[in-house]
Amino acid sequence: MAKPMRSRVYIFSILTINLCIWLALVSLSMQVAAFHSADLSQMSTTVPRYLNPSLKIGFYNETCPQVGKIVEERIAYWTSIDDTTPSPLLRLFFHDCLVYGCDASVLLNSSYNATAEKDADVNFSLGNFFVIDEIKERLEIECPGVVSCADILALVGVYSIKQAGGPLYNIELGRRDGLTSFSYASHVFLPSFNLTVDGLLANFEYFGLDVVDLVALSGAHTIGQGHCKSIQDRIFPKVDSRYSHGYGEELLALCTLNGTMASGTFDDEAQYFLDPVSTHVFDNGYFKSLLDGRGVFTSDVSLVADNRTRPWVELFAADEKAFLRQFGKSLRKMGKIGVLSGEQGQIRKQCWIRNCDSPNFAFNPDHLLPAE
Ligand code: HEM
Ligand SMILES: *[C@@H]1O[C@H](CO)[C@@H](O)[C@H](O)[C@H]1NC(C)=O
Ligand SMILES: *[C@@H]1O[C@H](CO)[C@@H](O)[C@H](O)[C@H]1NC(C)=O
Ligand SMILES: *[C@@H]1O[C@H](CO)[C@@H](O)[C@H](O)[C@H]1NC(C)=O
Ligand SMILES: *[C@@H]1O[C@H](CO)[C@@H](O)[C@H](O)[C@H]1NC(C)=O
Ligand SMILES: *[C@@H]1O[C@H](CO)[C@@H](O)[C@H](O)[C@H]1NC(C)=O
Ligand SMILES: *[C@@H]1O[C@H](CO)[C@@H](O)[C@H](O)[C@H]1NC(C)=O
Ligand SMILES: *[C@@H]1O[C@H](CO)[C@@H](O)[C@H](O)[C@H]1NC(C)=O
Repeated sequence: MAKPMRSRVYIFSILTINLCIWLALVSLSMQVAAFHSADLSQMSTTVPRYLNPSLKIGFYNETCPQVGKIVEERIAYWTSIDDTTPSPLLRLFFHDCLVYGCDASVLLNSSYNATAEKDADVNFSLGNFFVIDEIKERLEIECPGVVSCADILALVGVYSIKQAGGPLYNIELGRRDGLTSFSYASHVFLPSFNLTVDGLLANFEYFGLDVVDLVALSGAHTIGQGHCKSIQDRIFPKVDSRYSHGYGEELLALCTLNGTMASGTFDDEAQYFLDPVSTHVFDNGYFKSLLDGRGVFTSDVSLVADNRTRPWVELFAADEKAFLRQFGKSLRKMGKIGVLSGEQGQIRKQCWIRNCDSPNFAFNPDHLLPAE
């Protein structure tokens, strides 16, 4: 009696899953078409640039009190295997927040007819997605359906800083996960490494971040690595004179293997540390390096030359506590860009794909606007 029952239920659920996938595909293609028909200037009025105040400290106090512990433990574990683990994790939070808000859109995989942010044709060299996926898997066992991927990114950001020897910032939580991810939005909203202060400020101010936030948040480059393709303009055909102590020549040698620039010898993928002095430590070393002619990107060295940003660079280089305090404030501010909360969006079951039972796959820019 029980057996045929079970198999009928089984067949039914297979049909349901297939129907669900089919619906998802159909509505996704409709959604992509709708998006393509809107031009970007129109989009720019509907993207979430506001700071949403509806997040809370201790949002998971009751529903998943162990969330911080799990995140901390997994980052410590992966760092014990590879000490470059924290930096890409912190960077993911930044890339998530600037492109359609902190809604875990950076984690979604490309799917039928939609290329996701993480697969933008310019390779932003994002990494360590597997750490996020593993944390989510554990959280789904401990507190199923509770912790959003967007909040995992926030927590992974703050615990990565702690893992790298920085303070543990207490960050507001309660973000929900978005339903969309479009590769070309990355080009529109992420600042390029070759921007100077005018461009960087325009970019940050669009999101409600100011000049102090810009300088403090750039201090994230006190950990992590870059690829030669991000500095090619500064070392070839001529080494930028703003590098001192032969640092530009050192980078040139690294990127060209032996310092000459015969055609085809530039190694786009070779890597160097962003803060050559205290590479794996979350401290104010980045600002000291900047003042010492070891700022890596154009966007970094521009902060030294411009009189709107230089005073902050000098302050943070001289006063580490001031930097760490301001970084926490600015990070929390960044973490509120365009978040979804309350009933908006969803809590994804897996961070790289939207839930099958999503109530509405249709693209609706209003979903991206913050609740007041
Ligand atoms: C101000 C504008 C910014 C620009 C132009 C910029 C640009 C870049 C570039 C070009 C790279 C290296 C990519 C590569 O060559 O592989 C990088 C790495 C990194 N960025 Fe930024 N960034 C900015 C702000 C930020 C912010 C606000 C954060 C975090 C709060 C951040 C965190 C990082 C980290 C941690 C890395 C190292 C990643 C790794 O080790 O793989 N950046 N950034
Ligand atoms: C994929 O999207 C493009 C652009 O919106 C559209 O022209 C095309 O018909 C879509 N393909 C399918 C199979 O839906
Ligand atoms: C969670 O607990 C912390 C520490 O006890 C408290 O400061 C915070 O207000 C609590 N948050 C919520 C939403 O209950
Ligand atoms: C992007 O860059 C990373 C790091 O260099 C590399 O591992 C990856 O294969 C690249 N991806 C693509 C699609 O080029
Ligand atoms: C989705 O992306 C993750 C990285 O976050 C990757 O490991 C996984 O293979 C992708 N899944 C599919 C089904 O493409
Ligand atoms: C800045 O970099 C982008 C590619 O990342 C390139 O398209 C643009 O031409 C560069 N601008 C300058 C002024 O070098
Ligand atoms: C640089 O490397 C290339 C290829 O390995 C070699 O042909 C060339 O002689 C080298 N130049 C110098 C100055 O070492
Ligand atoms: C900053 O520099 C500009 C010229 O580059 C100058 O006009 C302005 O007065 C300076 N501002 C301050 C506060 O020094």
